[in-house]
Amino acid sequence: MEFLSEIERRRTFGIISHPDAGKTTLTEKLLLYGGAIQEAGAVKSNKVKKGAASDFMAIERQRGISVATSVLAFIYKDKKINILDTPGHKDFAEDTFRTLTAVDSVIVVIDVAKGVEEQTQKLVEVCRLRSIPILVFINKLDREGKDAFELMDEVEIKLGLTVTPLTFPIGMGYDFRGIYNIWEENLELFNPDDKQRVSEKIKFRSINDENLKLNIGVKQTKQLKEDLELISGVYPKFNVQNYLSGDLQPVFFGSALNNFGVQELLDCFIEIAPKPRPKGSDMRIIYPTEDKFTGFVFKIHANMDPKHRDRLAFIKIVSGKFERNIPYLNVRQNKKFKFSSPNAFFAEKKQIIDVSFPGDIVGLHDTGNFKIGDTLTTGEKINFKGIPNFSPEHFRYINNTDPMKAKQLNKGINQLMDEGVAQLFILNINNRKVVGTVGALQFEVIQYRLLHEYGAKCNFENLNVYKACWVSREESENNEFEEFKRVKQKFLAKDKQNQLVFLADSDFTLRMTINKYPSLKFYFTSEFK
Ligand code: G4P
Repeated sequence: MEFLSEIERRRTFGIISHPDAGKTTLTEKLLLYGGAIQEAGAVKSNKVKKGAASDFMAIERQRGISVATSVLAFIYKDKKINILDTPGHKDFAEDTFRTLTAVDSVIVVIDVAKGVEEQTQKLVEVCRLRSIPILVFINKLDREGKDAFELMDEVEIKLGLTVTPLTFPIGMGYDFRGIYNIWEENLELFNPDDKQRVSEKIKFRSINDENLKLNIGVKQTKQLKEDLELISGVYPKFNVQNYLSGDLQPVFFGSALNNFGVQELLDCFIEIAPKPRPKGSDMRIIYPTEDKFTGFVFKIHANMDPKHRDRLAFIKIVSGKFERNIPYLNVRQNKKFKFSSPNAFFAEKKQIIDVSFPGDIVGLHDTGNFKIGDTLTTGEKINFKGIPNFSPEHFRYINNTDPMKAKQLNKGINQLMDEGVAQLFILNINNRKVVGTVGALQFEVIQYRLLHEYGAKCNFENLNVYKACWVSREESENNEFEEFKRVKQKFLAKDKQNQLVFLADSDFTLRMTINKYPSLKFYFTSEFK
């Protein structure tokens, strides 16, 4: 019984947004309501520019970009909330994509003035394809922005969602007066002086409350009534099942900075957001309520403690209880491991735990055994699906510039690749190493980390590659495969799993090649088997 109720009370989610929409601020306010921090500013003032709590590595502090994906856990109204932080910077999009394999739902933050931005579009698309339940928070209502109805249209068109508002703003910017809570059918007035604390707010039970006119005036009261009529006429009625299946997305309005609309969001979220969901494996679907432990590695974080060369593998628990000091099988290696000090998180703060439940994230100390995507079980040989590599966007040769440190360089490259910082390809023709990344910034991250963590020096050399495609040979009676290998030998490489990869130098070449060799299959992600 205890096991089932532990699963029931877990909510594991990610917050995604375009940089600057207010993800960090919202995260912080959620922590504030959860009592995990006492005062606003604890996370925010730690944001990279100012030296960080949720960003560990020195390089992040230097650059002012959130490189790390950390886990923030707290209890709110007896629900165990796990927020998986996702880097907003586009160069670290792959890290975010991987984190999305470990969440059970997401909250999308949109800036009321900027509307739907590029990075939001990409991330939401991934969520939509996976039918992850999505909840939208429109932020910065204290500023002038787009009309609420217009913005909801934009969300529907640009993000391909079907929305229905569960809260609605009264005015915005200078005229922002408060939020009507459609979900609870009450209303809360805005007091701009509440930035730092969670305070009592003036609440009204009904829109017909005579005091309302006194507070927001006749004009805004009339407008609100009209807006609510329009909403009930135009938008579908909220239905939890449709939200959970990814067919309907509730929208909330507020101002994270001003603590406004956040509690409405959180209170509704804990009611409707999914508890840990089942997950597909290569053999069968695994349900959280199964009594045997299974989980998978979605992130590896290196060297959080500069004094030790330690790596922390982040595991999402899919089913069963995870227990300290019990041997678990890493299916890829067919090898059992025991963990004497598994960690739970609060940003940089870790604590050793004895037991964790489905939905939770545990951090396991790793001396270089794990790779992103590894499955851990009590013995069953299954592999969780859903952590493919996508084609990188940038490709460069990596050259060793200190011949005395070749070993360190190789070790460093291998470990960074296991962490998923970038992808490594080895050219068939000359065994040269090519590093592929999502953003150009990663090359600097790699160079910095190789030097500071492994004492190895390297430089990069440009390589003209448009896309990497994984190639598989279908049953063919002709010699197409041999011909393809001969003609394209300069452009063929192996990835870390020894799979054949075609590095096409242009979109044109890629299309020509696909047409020319119809019996071969070209894939844009590494997980095609
Ligand atoms: P991010 O994690 O999505 O990148 O965004 P972040 O929370 O850091 O917020 C980006 C900027 O937007 C911050 O201002 C933050 O204070 C501001 N902001 C967040 N929520 C609101 C809101 O509801 N209303 C208004 N007016 N501003 C909001 P900054 O100047 O970049 O940082 P700071 O100097 O305020 O810390």
